[in-house]
Amino acid sequence: MDQNVLKLAAAQAAIAYVPIDTIIGVGSGSTVNFFIAELAKIAHRIKAAVSSSDASTALLRQANIEVTTLNDAGPLSVYVDGADEITPQLAMIKGGGAALTREKIIAAASDKFVCIADQSKLVDVLGTFPLPVEVIPMARSYVARELVKLGGHPAWRMKDDKAIVTDNGNWILDVHGLLISDPIELESWINQIAGVVSNGLFARRGADIALLASTDGVKTLTCTAVPQGTSNRIVTETR
Ligand code: A5P
Repeated sequence: MDQNVLKLAAAQAAIAYVPIDTIIGVGSGSTVNFFIAELAKIAHRIKAAVSSSDASTALLRQANIEVTTLNDAGPLSVYVDGADEITPQLAMIKGGGAALTREKIIAAASDKFVCIADQSKLVDVLGTFPLPVEVIPMARSYVARELVKLGGHPAWRMKDDKAIVTDNGNWILDVHGLLISDPIELESWINQIAGVVSNGLFARRGADIALLASTDGVKTLTCTAVPQGTSNRIVTETR
């Protein structure tokens, strides 16, 4: 089945999680683009959106959805975004579109994170998709050396021989070759390298709900509990 059909199905399922008359967080990427198109149909039901990228902001405005800042919005009821990889425990790699830092901020400020994706994004272990790390430009080479010490192979993200510049004016290192058995620990570790703005592991604040579309329909994975003193997330599956 065409992947766009699956992305659309996940995006449509997410509409049920949009509370009436609130400000919601909106992520970035091709799956979210479908979500924005669906959101346009119920634009009158929401107050506004906080956007994780300039690209999503432009689409939201085209859809006549007011875009406000996170500072003005306060806590958000829900954040809807895609993922590059997601585990059954709802930890993710994100940042394939270079919007990871704003995505992480909005996810942190939201009561509920709804991840929308096609089922091909579901993996047992994160790391086949290269892990994006946003860095302050002057720190690129230093951060890359530190990432090599962690066992990764960082590549400076470029297009047409020019560095990709994030919406925050920074650069991206894509770290290949990591098999991420403990995403919470690795997320914290990479954050401590001087010059790192953020990394694409979303494990400390993973998704609360994943809507994963396949040819069999949209499967819902819901994180119901995190037992005290552990990092284990209990996830239930419904269709
Ligand atoms: C953007 O920076 C990413 O985090 C996206 O959420 C992620 O890359 C998923 O994108 P697609 O929906 O295009 O696969």
